[in-house]
Amino acid sequence: TMKMIMDLDTGVDDALALAHALSFEEVELIGVTTSFGNVTLENATKNTINLLDLLGHSHIPVFEGASSPWGETSYEPQPHLLHIHGDNGIGNVELGEPKRQPSKQSAVDFIIESANTFGEELILYTAGPMNNLADAFKKDKEAIEKIGKIVSMGSALTVPGNVSPYAEANIHRDSKSAQYVFASDIPMTLVGLDVTLKTMIKGTDISSWHPIGTKASEAMVEMANYYYTNEFDDAEIGGAMHDPLAVEVALNPSIATQTTKINLKVETEGDAKGRTIGNLDLLNRQFKSMTVYFYKNYFQHEQSEFLNCAAIFTQI
Ligand code: BDR
Ligand code: CA
Repeated sequence: TMKMIMDLDTGVDDALALAHALSFEEVELIGVTTSFGNVTLENATKNTINLLDLLGHSHIPVFEGASSPWGETSYEPQPHLLHIHGDNGIGNVELGEPKRQPSKQSAVDFIIESANTFGEELILYTAGPMNNLADAFKKDKEAIEKIGKIVSMGSALTVPGNVSPYAEANIHRDSKSAQYVFASDIPMTLVGLDVTLKTMIKGTDISSWHPIGTKASEAMVEMANYYYTNEFDDAEIGGAMHDPLAVEVALNPSIATQTTKINLKVETEGDAKGRTIGNLDLLNRQFKSMTVYFYKNYFQHEQSEFLNCAAIFTQI
């Protein structure tokens, strides 16, 4: 079976991505690494442990990673982030104090060790700033090159950013580590705002999930309800399933009907910090309508038809 590591800055869409990934029975989630981002590192770790336990996967270990961007010693999430994801990062759903500790091993060492153990069979998925991947690559390039597939939610090429007119949040939060990863010639697949903004969920989608009365399903609904009204402050626009779409691309690649190979770089200074720049010929992009069965283990079977197209960018 394929193995997967998820690297999360556990906010609401990260939480939904985690639930989504756990519903793929053919893939084993061997660990979750955490990062600052939507929340502080401490809260990302706390949310991740609580969510894994809530979803019935308390055996999956959690490894703490970066607490601040490269070259900085601290990090506080901006008020707008707390507005989108809630003060605690998971839509203010209260899950209490975690019942276990993160592993003593660091996120970087866990990624390197897993790369050496599983090689081609390992999928590394990142949905926060790229620090843990960048640090792992810096520490042991050879190990990271063994990983079968790296899929990341991040970037904005053909659409405006979500934290500035230029930049997507995950790249913006530590543009230097993202630039390091992109400059390193490691092949990876990026799922950018270009496509994640086509996965908007609204109240009607969430009400079709039909929670099955478990604490987990109710928490998912509550989080999603918080997020969809707040991401763009407009319930009619809804909230984007950025990180869940990247899970789908990682585990069910046929969802992406077209990919574009590019060499990307990142602007690391000035107003356009975090901007991803590449050579693109996107004029011939084709989109196909499709349906994704979300959260099949947590909700009664109902389909959410919010993913109506997908394309991804492959960084070469
Ligand atoms: C990305 O930034 C984070 O806030 C979300 O969880 C997602 O990973 C969207 O730009
Ligand atoms: Ca995220």
